[in-house]
Amino acid sequence: MKILVTGGVGYIGSHTVVDLIENGHDIVILDNLCNSKIEVLDKIKEITGKAPAFMVGDIRNRSDVDNVFNTHHDIDAVIHFAGLKAVGESCEKPLLYYDNNIAGTVTLLKSMSAHGCKRIVFSSSATVYGDPATVPVTEDFPLSTTNPYGSTKLYIEQILKDLCASDSEWDATLLRYFNPVGAHESTLLGENPNGIPNNLMPYIMKVACGKLEKLHIFGDDYPTADGTGVRDYIHVCDLAHGHTLAISKLDGLKIYNLGTGTGYSVLDMVKAFEKANNIKLPYCIDPRRPGDVAVNFADPAKAKEELGFEATRTLEDMCRTSYEFAKKNFK
Ligand code: NAD
Ligand code: UD1
Repeated sequence: MKILVTGGVGYIGSHTVVDLIENGHDIVILDNLCNSKIEVLDKIKEITGKAPAFMVGDIRNRSDVDNVFNTHHDIDAVIHFAGLKAVGESCEKPLLYYDNNIAGTVTLLKSMSAHGCKRIVFSSSATVYGDPATVPVTEDFPLSTTNPYGSTKLYIEQILKDLCASDSEWDATLLRYFNPVGAHESTLLGENPNGIPNNLMPYIMKVACGKLEKLHIFGDDYPTADGTGVRDYIHVCDLAHGHTLAISKLDGLKIYNLGTGTGYSVLDMVKAFEKANNIKLPYCIDPRRPGDVAVNFADPAKAKEELGFEATRTLEDMCRTSYEFAKKNFK
């Protein structure tokens, strides 16, 4: 297939482009590079031997999106990663998030429709489950959000549901990611956030490389085995392959959790990272982070049954590849 990947230069997008190319697909990337670096394209070529077509542009600009479809007439489907994802920033700048994520998606969908391309895989998030009453979480759990970033994911899901209901030609698969971590085995691709990271694994990586003094664990008084928050960490290469499976099975509206089905606490992650990399991670216990839930992990059964999706990489793989990437790439 010829696939347009929006946000394909970013963390999950770049790993997915590699997996798609390795599975024989032709790729066109549209990215405005607001949270990624153009050098990633060379890394993709180094890994796969093939350079994806790239157009710099913004999904909010109709002419940028039209330009992609007018240049590449035969696009079969879109995988839509382009979006802003920082929860804290979304609380400070909600209009930026609604504009970039929601208005951008509507513009993309209008252009797709006008060019007769009505097949899309969308990057949603486990954040749409809010604070789940029980775990593991299945796709039919009630949806809610606690911040503007989460609201953008929920609203875009609804837009895609409405679109599929209005026109049977549309196929939309919503993938709800749990917590993607890790890096490509080559150490050429990975997550490299600017400044102080919000998420656990990038923070651990910066502490491990001596860029930050110690990890601040947000609360040890949750109702969990060791009191720290529990999440479903999934290797980004496993997650990437989920898109390759999903794109081949587009058929009406589909919704899948992409997780491992296993929850690990913050302290489990610290211990696993120390063991995998034979290092010591200094940490302290801080108060809970507002908006955090105690436990969230997936029931991945539906994705396994319908897509044949199964995460195969271990927690050790996640910790080892994260550190190897950080050592090579954190300046
Ligand atoms: P990322 O920031 O690394 O990648 C996003 C890419 O989209 C970047 O390359 C950025 O430059 C581009 N982009 C942003 N706005 C754009 C716009 N208006 N026009 C064109 N390009 C634009 O983030 P990621 O971690 O790879 O996440 C990809 C998607 O997955 C996002 O939609 C995110 O919300 C979603 N998601 C991520 C996580 C996670 O933990 N990383 C979890 C759940 C869902
Ligand atoms: C966060 C977002 C979520 C988003 C997801 C992926 C919040 C409230 N939620 O999820 O909307 O979809 O990232 O981008 O921001 N932790 C620490 N110290 C740290 C960082 C994290 O102890 O420095 C703990 C957290 O309290 C949590 C766990 O580590 O228990 C994982 O945190 P994080 O990586 O931020 O992911 P989520 O909170 O699951």
